[in-house]
Amino acid sequence: MSQQWWRDAVIYQVYPRSFADANGDGMGDLEGIRSRIPYLSKLGVDAIWLSPFYASPQNDAGYDVSDYRAIDPRFGDLDDFDRMLADAHEAGIRLIVDLVPNHSSSEHVWFKAALASAPGSPERERYHFRDVDPAAPDTPPNNWQSVFGGAAWTKTPDGRQWYLHLFDPSQPDLNWDNPEVHEEFKSVLRFWLDRGVDGFRIDVAHGMVKAEGLPDTGGDGSIEMIGTTQAPFFDQDGVHDIYRTWRPVIEEYEGDRIFVAEAWTDSAERRALYLRPDELHQAFNFDLVLAPFQSADFRKAIDSEVANNAGVGAPCTWVLSNHDVQRHVTRYGGGVQGLARAKAATQLLLSLPGVVYVYQGEELGLNEVLDLPAEVREDPTFFRTNGEQIGRDGCRVPLPWAKEGPSLGFGSNGSWLPQPGDWPAKSVEAEDGVGGSTLEFYRQAIAVRKAHRATGLTWLEDPGDNAFAFDNGALVSVVNFSDAPVPVTGYGTEVLLASAPLVDGNLPAGSTVWFKK
Ligand code: GLC
Repeated sequence: MSQQWWRDAVIYQVYPRSFADANGDGMGDLEGIRSRIPYLSKLGVDAIWLSPFYASPQNDAGYDVSDYRAIDPRFGDLDDFDRMLADAHEAGIRLIVDLVPNHSSSEHVWFKAALASAPGSPERERYHFRDVDPAAPDTPPNNWQSVFGGAAWTKTPDGRQWYLHLFDPSQPDLNWDNPEVHEEFKSVLRFWLDRGVDGFRIDVAHGMVKAEGLPDTGGDGSIEMIGTTQAPFFDQDGVHDIYRTWRPVIEEYEGDRIFVAEAWTDSAERRALYLRPDELHQAFNFDLVLAPFQSADFRKAIDSEVANNAGVGAPCTWVLSNHDVQRHVTRYGGGVQGLARAKAATQLLLSLPGVVYVYQGEELGLNEVLDLPAEVREDPTFFRTNGEQIGRDGCRVPLPWAKEGPSLGFGSNGSWLPQPGDWPAKSVEAEDGVGGSTLEFYRQAIAVRKAHRATGLTWLEDPGDNAFAFDNGALVSVVNFSDAPVPVTGYGTEVLLASAPLVDGNLPAGSTVWFKK
């Protein structure tokens, strides 16, 4: 039986500016990624998701795209892209690119043309412009606040109109009521599908459609990506119509290509709507990103994802870390305990039915870097909240590949964010081939998962308080979330993998074990 690859793949997120720097300019690039494909192959991943590498002023690290069909010169060019894709495919690794349809950069030709044209012109109809009210010239058209802090409206340079930006002022929201916007994005999809990409991660997939009339939100209008759910600008029902027009486009292409949604919704039920058979293939489940390391919270999130996704025939899509959230080692307390729990949670994910996304560097046990000096920070969140929120730079620090060198093997020079003093010990060089290292643990866990593919999930009796066990059809997975060991001899005799060695038949605090069935 051949199962569609994307239903149980392990997909590795590459954040291009921080992965590997081949040209020594301090920022990662496509050639750097290409040079590390053997590493990804050895890790055992099925696919790579690449965060944006498009032409961009980089005000939001590339999520502000000025040309959807061009590579930013900092990352290379289209020839580099084609070479990287060819090498990935040669290694049996698929490649998913990021699509940013909610907003463009203010440097995009469309926005520049809009500013150069009169209010009411077709050029302005591609974005959300509203007249400034002469009676209240400083009051924006509604109370929406930007995700990055401050008002979601900025005045045009001539002061006559406002334009909407749910994110940075340099990221104007596109007007998805305009058919031209629809046509443009279908054409962008085809551009990358023609080049051979295996799919798209859709940025802010719940955000493109705004409620008619752009009504005020309740409360103070503030917007959190993580936590704001259905609102006049997020998770509007009309967004599903867009995906129903995209699905036939991707279906025209051979090779089982996919869409994965970044859709923050207030329930697994609403998330599953994006996964109906004529819409998208996967949607990240962020519940485990938000969940404390507690068995009840994990179990609730797992049950609800499994039930709701089964209802629409879509795979569960698990994730613990990405470029927007604090790394899970640090979320779970950091240090030895944080790392132990992070490995346990990862091993748990790898035994669940569905797809698992791994964020670059988690396989090395990297922590969030919390103490970056203000002058090196780049995340607009930091600046728009006057430093009140430190932002996301701490999970974006360039990878350490070697124990030595100006940027620990990231490149031949420095790196755009400094690496902490204890990262030589967490480098690929330090962990490669070393028993008990996080890297070897990830390699083994992915290999064992491949040899024992989950077919379902049946809960077994809990081994103790704050611990659970289940049978996934191929192995038995036992997870101890508590601070004390739990006895696990009743679950099996042959250990396939343990995130920490069993002691006298007990599973240590904060660890996971897989038993052969
Ligand atoms: C998504 C991206 C994030 C970006 C935002 C605006 O949430 O993951 O990095 O800042 O969209 O594009």
